[in-house]
Order: sequence, then C-alpha cells, then structure tokens
Amino acid sequence: MALFAKKHKGFDAATVPPAMDANEAASIAFAHDQGLSRHHFVEGEHPAVRIEHLNKTFNGETQVLRDVNLDVWNGEIVVVLGPSGSGKSTMLRCINLLETPTAGHILIDDEEITGKSGREVARVRRELGMVFQGFNLFPHLTALENVMVGQTKVLKKDKEEARAEAIKQLEAVGMGDRIDFKPPQLSGGQQQRVAIARAVAMHPKVLLFDEPTSALDPELVRDVLGVMRELALHGNMTMIVVTHEMGFAREVADRVVFMEGGVVVEQGLPEDVFDHPQHERTKQFLGSIG
Ligand SMILES: Nc1ncnc2c1ncn2[C@@H]1O[C@H](COP(=O)(O)OP(=O)(O)OP(=O)(O)O)[C@@H](O)[C@H]1O
Ligand SMILES: [Mg+2]
Repeated sequence: MALFAKKHKGFDAATVPPAMDANEAASIAFAHDQGLSRHHFVEGEHPAVRIEHLNKTFNGETQVLRDVNLDVWNGEIVVVLGPSGSGKSTMLRCINLLETPTAGHILIDDEEITGKSGREVARVRRELGMVFQGFNLFPHLTALENVMVGQTKVLKKDKEEARAEAIKQLEAVGMGDRIDFKPPQLSGGQQQRVAIARAVAMHPKVLLFDEPTSALDPELVRDVLGVMRELALHGNMTMIVVTHEMGFAREVADRVVFMEGGVVVEQGLPEDVFDHPQHERTKQFLGSIG
C-alpha cells in the first residue's frame, strides 16, 4: 500500500515523475484494482492501458485533467461517467493521441505512447479504435467502403481480405443488408453501427467510445447499445466507454469510473458505485441523472 500511495499521490504538471517500472506498476495496479472490477485478474498480468499522473491544461490556464491515474486490463470494459466538462472526452482524446498531455504518461502494453511523433503516432493509433458521438463516416463512401478503407490504407490489407472482414463486421452489427448504402441513406443508429464495425475491423488493442449514443433518437439507441453489449460480452475487446447510459453501465461494465473536475473521484464495481456511492459528488450526479 505504501507503493500505491507513492503512485497515486498528487503531483502538479512540473513535478510528474517518470513512468513507473512495468512490473512494479503492474503489481501495484493489480492490488489496487482487485475488488473494483469484475475483470478476472490473473496473477502476474499487466494492464493493457496505464495512465499515470495525466495532466492536461488548455492555453496554459484551464486545467482539465488533474493527475488522473487509471489502469485498464485486457478484456476489461470500463465505463466513464461524469458531468459535462469533467474531462472525459479530453482523457479519451489523450489516449488516442488527438490531444497532447501537458504532463504524465499513457502506456499501452507497457509502451509509452505519450511523446511520440510522426510515424510512431500512426503506429500507436492503429492500436486504438475510436467511436465518436457524431459517427464520422466518409459520406461519399458506402458502408462497405467505409469499413474497408482503414484496412487497405492503414493496415495495407489486400482488397479481398479487407472486403471479407468488412462484410463479417457489418453482419455482426446487423448491417449486412445495407453494405452498399452511403451514410446519408442510413439512420443515425445505422451509421453508428457502421462506425463500430469500422473500428472493430481494425482489431485495435483498445476500443474507445465517446458518448456513442448521445446524438441518436431514443428508439435507435437500443440497437447501438445492443451491438456494444454484444461486443463487450463476447467480442473479447478492451473498451473504455464514456456514456450516460446507466442501464448499459450497470449491466455491461466491469468497472465504473466517476470523473469530475478533471479528477477520478470514485471507481468500482457498477453495483457499488450505483448503489453505494462513497462520495457526495457521485451521489449528487447519480441522483441528478435518475
Ligand atoms: N481545445 C480546447 N481548448 C480549451 N478548452 C478545452 C478544449 N477542449 C476541451 N476544453 C475544456 O475542457 C473541459 C473538459 O472538456 P471535455 O470535453 O473533456 O469534457 P467532457 O467531460 O467530455 O464533457 P461532455 O460530457 O460535455 O462531453 C471543458 O471545460 C472544456 O471547455
Ligand atoms: Mg465529452
């Protein structure tokens, strides 16, 4: 526990220590996270994602992330909750290298991804899939082409192989009968399912979701959540999901993380966080969203 205290003590951006030794970090995280997650921990395993002392300040003044420390395990489904402006998207965007942390470390399989440039960034990004609130499909490409393009351009797969994988993933999200439709011909829920198929077809190490159902009409939310539930329960994926869908979080999450003000306030098993929140702010937040 002394080591854990060392790892999780607050630091300001100027005094963040170097990333921890992989074995030491893994054993501290192992001791810390057991009991907080439904993940089946295996003695000696290392986290898939390690976030150490992550700090992000915009324009030198707005501090959005303050010493975030979080480990995510292989195959774990982590749901991140928190009020608007708490830093959830910024954290995902730092993991995906869309933002540069002001200080701190992010490691994937014990490899530091922060501080990379050029070709290295491209290589790291391949390990990370992201599904956005706004789908971000190419409007002029069909569903099939949208799911193929990353495979051929980024992974350099040949066309037939990419096509077979795309069809497989589109079928898995219930879009097998719409593969030749372009995004404007699809509903929001269908577009989001194509976006999920596109992310999965790249077989990333970690799949990040930023409020994937927030832009959808209520009747379409269910289909997308169904696809995500299937992926979480049977897809063998590591997922970090920012969402306000509490039913999904309670059923599917291995761990729920509550953020506020750029800080991880509380984390634990869904039933613990939802039914017995420890912090006043968590109680208020959960009360406010019913
Ligand atoms: N590029 C930027 N420049 C300046 N401030 C930013 C920038 N991006 C985000 N912020 C600020 O960072 C804070 C956290 O934003 P972030 O988008 O991470 O919150 P969030 O938890 O995802 O909120 P929401 O639930 O509304 O999506 C906000 O106060 C926001 O204004
Ligand atoms: Mg956000």
